[in-house]
Amino acid sequence: MGTAGLRPLSPCPGHRAHARSMPGPSLRFEPIAPSLKQERETLCRILGCAAFGVAAGPVSGAVPRRPATPARSGLPRVRRRDTPAGMTDDASAARWDGRYDRDDYLFGEAPAAFVERQAHRLMPGDRVLAVADGEGRNSVWLAGQGFRVTAFDASARGLEKARALAASKGANVDFHLAGVEAWDWAATPYDAVAAIYIQFAGPALRDRIFAGLDTALRPGGLLLLHGFAPRQVGYGTGGPPCAENMYTLELLRTAFPGYDILHQADYDAVVEAGPGHNGLAAMIDFVARKPA
Ligand SMILES: C[S@@+](CC[C@H](N)C(=O)[O-])C[C@H]1O[C@@H](n2cnc3c(N)ncnc32)[C@H](O)[C@@H]1O
Repeated sequence: MGTAGLRPLSPCPGHRAHARSMPGPSLRFEPIAPSLKQERETLCRILGCAAFGVAAGPVSGAVPRRPATPARSGLPRVRRRDTPAGMTDDASAARWDGRYDRDDYLFGEAPAAFVERQAHRLMPGDRVLAVADGEGRNSVWLAGQGFRVTAFDASARGLEKARALAASKGANVDFHLAGVEAWDWAATPYDAVAAIYIQFAGPALRDRIFAGLDTALRPGGLLLLHGFAPRQVGYGTGGPPCAENMYTLELLRTAFPGYDILHQADYDAVVEAGPGHNGLAAMIDFVARKPA
């Protein structure tokens, strides 16, 4: 297992063994100035948190939209009329299409470090559902490890790039263009569900998604949940500028009662995940097993 994309803040920078185990004790930073905090919260209320998937961070500048030609992989482009029905905010998919409409991978081609660190808990051949999988970095890596992976996302452009990534790695992923709002969570019982940086959802939609994750897991199935902690809003290195979309460990423990918590952590680390997620980030890990 590697540790690509994650460099824990610790007295031993670059110490890979340390990174492999767990980021050390949380490092706390100065709280953001009240005026800036108020400004962000006001913005949140006016625009709605779902308006943001990536905050004004070090995402590189405007990338020219690609012409409507086949993808470099030769795979057909997913047509916009395939946008999943039932999304509460289809414009969100269009925004993500815009972000992903670039030649490189916004969050890189390597999986989130959390996924790499926690995948040892899966069994060979496990069926894994990757929720809001974006450009496929997590699903493709998981499929490459021998798991049977289904992935979905609301962004047609993201899906197109995910398919291209899978093709380039020789990985087999069952991809679907779908919003969380319309996904049939009960259709297939999964051995594991991975939900990585899905904080486009405010509290109401998040409750529905969490219920869906629970439904999708078979009894005894593994929940792999990873995202930002509320203080991330002050860091400006990714995620929506809306603290209410973020996770706390208490929130997650409450959301999944009866689950056997195998790993939980609230920590700061430097993330290097493509141009879209780069720098100091406040993160939450939550790995828990559904009651059998
Ligand atoms: C921050 S990205 C994370 C992508 C991926 N999980 C990863 O770690 O690279 C958030 C993803 O959520 C997707 N998304 C936004 N709204 C959605 C919705 N209503 N249903 C499904 N996916 C959605 C976006 O298209 C985007 O790919």
